Amino acid sequence: MRYRSQSVAYWYFAVAMVLFGLQLVFGLLSAAKYLGPDPLLYILPFDVTKVIHTNLLIVWVLTGFMGATYWMVPDESRTELYSVKLAYLQLVLWTLMGVTAVVGYLFRYGTGNKLLEQPLPHKIVIVICMLLFLFNIGMTIWKSKRFTTTEGVLVLGLGLAAVLYLPALLEYENYTVAIFYRWWTIHLWVEGVWEMIQGGFLAYLLIRLSGADREVMEKWLYVIVGLVFIAGILGTAHHYYWVGVPAYWLPIGGIFSALEPVALVGMAIYAYSAMRRSGMSHPNTLALHWTLGSAVFTLFGAGLLGLAHTFPDVNKWTHGTLITAMHGHAAFYGAYAMITLAMISFAMPSMTPGRSEQGSSIGYWSFWLQLGGMFGMTLSFATAGIGQVYLERILGMGYLDAQLKIQVHFVMLVVTGSIFAIGVGLFIYDFFRYAPRFEVDDGQTAGPRPATKPVVTAAHA
Ligand code: HEM
Ligand code: HEM
Ligand SMILES: [Fe+2]
Repeated sequence: MRYRSQSVAYWYFAVAMVLFGLQLVFGLLSAAKYLGPDPLLYILPFDVTKVIHTNLLIVWVLTGFMGATYWMVPDESRTELYSVKLAYLQLVLWTLMGVTAVVGYLFRYGTGNKLLEQPLPHKIVIVICMLLFLFNIGMTIWKSKRFTTTEGVLVLGLGLAAVLYLPALLEYENYTVAIFYRWWTIHLWVEGVWEMIQGGFLAYLLIRLSGADREVMEKWLYVIVGLVFIAGILGTAHHYYWVGVPAYWLPIGGIFSALEPVALVGMAIYAYSAMRRSGMSHPNTLALHWTLGSAVFTLFGAGLLGLAHTFPDVNKWTHGTLITAMHGHAAFYGAYAMITLAMISFAMPSMTPGRSEQGSSIGYWSFWLQLGGMFGMTLSFATAGIGQVYLERILGMGYLDAQLKIQVHFVMLVVTGSIFAIGVGLFIYDFFRYAPRFEVDDGQTAGPRPATKPVVTAAHA
């Protein structure tokens, strides 16, 4: 740790870890409900467990993003954070918001707008937290007078993510209008500005972990972000096929969203070639696994599995089925869970002394169990989804009858989900196993930071 105030990140990561664990409890509960009689039907029905599952996902990933930003910005701008107090105040407010929202959902207190179910008071607190966060980060950079492209892309992504939350604050009478604007937040987040956030972290990690040239890495970062934007903005239309808007959205959605995977191919090549050409200049191979893993799994989950159902001719059969859940899991996990776990794995050794820089064997078990488990979950949703589409939409079988026929795939979901959950359990255990101690050092973790190629030092070995 180079700067004392980077320790703020630890507490954000710790909150994210707890919420991640809780998210999986509600995921497994939601999956188990597909298996048969539900003893919790009147206490915790499926809609409640699913809302809690997806909302905890968004909250823990954003908590991770914030922590990782508080870690990365001092490192990039070479300065202490503007205000540590403000960062803690923000964390307390944010956590209270997340916890009370979940308790509220248990009592059916929510707006019913998928993924944006937060009640208005909670939405207002979210806006306040984002403003505190952006102010703190902005002032840190302003004060330092040093602004790298990598952090620029990250901060722009975070700022735009906050702006795009604004349509979610409004309520619309007309359902088509409500759906139309809902995607401005959800789609433009995950297929637009959050990709900038992922790109910023990815570039930072690759520069620190490999000996890759900063100028080259940052140039390619621009290209990838540019491609994401061009395709992603009009790609929003792949959610407009069946919602009651004019038919010209069909070709627009098909063509532009089909271009989105190009940027994701670029991102995977970017990560892989940085490592292949520049090698390692840092001992943390566990963080490298998560970093490259994120780039590759994004290409699979978002690129390939997104493309699989993005054309109107396919989507008219698969829309809103378990095929969507197949893609949603693999994409979200690869792009946003894995990059957050990469930043945590990178930062932890210097905040928790005693931990090996290379990562422990528990850390590697966690990585492979999660990867295998998530791959299995993706296949379970895929096979269930294909069966569902065929029975329900082609043969015309009723929804519940079709669900009975595909039940076996949910046995597989629970098994693979449990393997995944063991992997996450190990990550959380590995996280909390060493007590934090925040000592400023001369950059063991951050590594040397020249503007161009970092020097490989013996101290890192
Ligand atoms: C990291 C990037 C991505 C993430 C995290 C992600 C996540 C998701 C999620 C959670 C949904 C369900 C949303 C809802 O129903 O509320 C969804 C839907 C969808 N995604 Fe993605 N996605 C990503 C990238 C992509 C890409 C690149 C494509 C196309 C090439 C794509 C195509 C689709 C389509 C067509 C749907 C609508 C499915 C339906 O009609 O039910 N996604 N995505
Ligand atoms: C133990 C692991 C998990 C299990 C068993 C699980 C199970 C489920 C189930 C059963 C649903 C409801 C699907 C439906 O509407 O029929 C769901 C929804 C969802 N889960 Fe998970 N999940 C797990 C982990 C995760 C993780 C790690 C992520 C992301 C990183 C995630 C992201 C999502 C998303 C985005 C949805 C909404 C999908 C949609 O409706 O389009 N889940 N999950
Ligand atoms: Fe989308």
